[in-house]
Amino acid sequence: MEKRAELYAGKAKSVFRTDDPDYFVLMFRDDTSAFDGQKTQQLERKGRVNNLFNAFIMEKLAAAGVPTHFEKVLSANESLVRNLEMLPVECVVRNIAAGSLCKRLGVTEGQELQPPTYELFLKNDALHDPMINESLAETFGWASAEDLAEMKRLTYEVNGVLKQLFLDAGMLLVDYKLEFGQADGKIMLGDEFSPDGCRIWDRETRRKMDKDRFRQDLGDVIETYEEVGRRLGIDFDAI
Ligand code: TMP
Ligand code: ASP
Repeated sequence: MEKRAELYAGKAKSVFRTDDPDYFVLMFRDDTSAFDGQKTQQLERKGRVNNLFNAFIMEKLAAAGVPTHFEKVLSANESLVRNLEMLPVECVVRNIAAGSLCKRLGVTEGQELQPPTYELFLKNDALHDPMINESLAETFGWASAEDLAEMKRLTYEVNGVLKQLFLDAGMLLVDYKLEFGQADGKIMLGDEFSPDGCRIWDRETRRKMDKDRFRQDLGDVIETYEEVGRRLGIDFDAI
């Protein structure tokens, strides 16, 4: 597979075409961004860590029957993925209250959410990713009713797999965001799963081990991502 021109540069990743129109190269850069790009910083090793973290999680999900765009790791900070037609809808599941939920509803951080909640956001930085619902998504054509039902089903299925995976490694999966796309008429998980797009706390101490370390200036951002990975059994120097 030959890497061709850059198609798109996001806040932390870039997408390149390949000689096969059905496949893209996803490059994880060292750039870190929060608050819709208002706070940015380059963090050494971040591209490598998130690329290998994402590969590990995507492989676990595929093994559990969740269709994903991930094909294989190509280099320390690049992976080969299927070309998906992405849907501009972010799907968020929360197991424990944190972040925007606490601000919006005034609930206490750390409160267990039973059953876990499910929220949709429109992927639009200029509008600060506003919360939407299935009716709005359908009416404005961001996703069909069938797509939305499948995205919800898969997002909860991911929770079943990952909650246990993190728990077994001494961590709590507090919440996470997924993005989906379509290929061959099928909904598949796209984008990435890394500590940038989820919240992970230590099971005993509830120490924050995700991008909140960057958002809240808690320090040791990448060192902590690496600790999460090591607990899961990821070798970040494997490539
Ligand atoms: P929130 O508490 O800010 O709504 O975020 C919930 C979870 O989803 C948290 O793990 C961060 C993740 N997320 C993103 O990574 N990007 C986004 O644009 C949104 C809305 C959430
Ligand atoms: N991922 C978004 C950004 O980079 C939101 C966030 O993580 O705070 O701005």
